[in-house]
Amino acid sequence: MNYQEVLKNAARSMVRFKNPHHLLRMIARFIAKEVHLTHASILLHDSVRNRYIFIDSKGELKIPVRLIRVDADHPLIRCLQGKCEVRILKKDVLSLRHLDDILNHFHTSPVSKLEVQKIIDLMKALKASLCVPSIYRGELLGVLILGTKRSGGDFTDEEISHFQTLAHDAAMTIKTAAYQMELLERNKQLEEQVTEITRLRKKEQETYYQIMLSLAEEVREKDDSTFGHLAAVEKLGVMTAEEMGMDLNGKKRDVLIAGLRLHDIGKIGIPDAILKKEDSLNQEEWVIMKQHAAKGAKILAPLADFKEVAEIVHCHHEFYDGKGYPRGLKGDQIPIESAIISVVDAFHAMVSERCYKKGYPLEFAIHELESNSGRQFHPKVVEAFMSVLKTKMLGYYEARMHEIHGNNAIHERKAS
Ligand SMILES: [Fe+2]
Repeated sequence: MNYQEVLKNAARSMVRFKNPHHLLRMIARFIAKEVHLTHASILLHDSVRNRYIFIDSKGELKIPVRLIRVDADHPLIRCLQGKCEVRILKKDVLSLRHLDDILNHFHTSPVSKLEVQKIIDLMKALKASLCVPSIYRGELLGVLILGTKRSGGDFTDEEISHFQTLAHDAAMTIKTAAYQMELLERNKQLEEQVTEITRLRKKEQETYYQIMLSLAEEVREKDDSTFGHLAAVEKLGVMTAEEMGMDLNGKKRDVLIAGLRLHDIGKIGIPDAILKKEDSLNQEEWVIMKQHAAKGAKILAPLADFKEVAEIVHCHHEFYDGKGYPRGLKGDQIPIESAIISVVDAFHAMVSERCYKKGYPLEFAIHELESNSGRQFHPKVVEAFMSVLKTKMLGYYEARMHEIHGNNAIHERKAS
């Protein structure tokens, strides 16, 4: 078998490994078996303790990997990092034969000789004849420790070159895996932060919504609307939407209800003298009164989860024919929720009692809505509302009328 070809293929397929430890074990097993070595072992940098540990050893003379550690300041490590006083690497690897030559034939300082001797001692203890560094951007990530060929021959330059390719690609894979782990960890932390921010934001939104509901109730009192006006408007509005066949699943229902409850919240910014005035408003007062739609939208703008509500509130006094306020929108330019609010609010305001007026009779309110259908009110909304009123709510409102006007109330009003 041409193991050199296999070595090349192994190096090429290496980057596919996601777990670098599996890869390194594969390399050790592969080299020991295919190159017929007494053993092949892998030293890996432990960045937490800054030392090198064996993660695997394969072959008949394999090393007891759990028992041996190599400190980061050992001459063998320092030399492979290029930090030795004398040049003892040959073709970027440590060869036992070359180290012996240095000791025996070259004149080096006693300090250097001591370092070389320490490297030789360690390599002999590890039964190694070759150490190949695995370097990534100047960082020694690991060392390929190789025994001797069982055939007894020396390693050829080509073999050493292949070992270096393997070691280099292994370093790339180790680093890629480390970056991936780091990225995963960072993503996890980011996800946790996003979840927490979302939770806090949701809580903040809920709090804001609750404050808005309290404010709406305050407006009702300020406005002198009857107690229960908002609840009635909400109930009639939802029933009308259902009658129209609107999709009210999930958030859409919440949006409609929020619009129905909060439509007049802008009145909080209207002076009492105007809001509570029993006589008709003069032109200047009307200008101020009409501002409540836009003011309401502004107050509700921070409700980011209910962006639609601000727009619905903004449009609740627009007319179907375009003659409403504040922007003169018409037809389908007006959100359908606003059109519903417009009808149910007008109806309930007409039939309700206030301190300065009795409610109008039911027939009058019905007539007002029907005669203004297609002008002030959206025809489909009026149609659906009438259906709700006649099929589900008529008994209730007739009883209310009876309470307010007495037995003849409906007839009297009819006559007028
Ligand atoms: Fe309003």
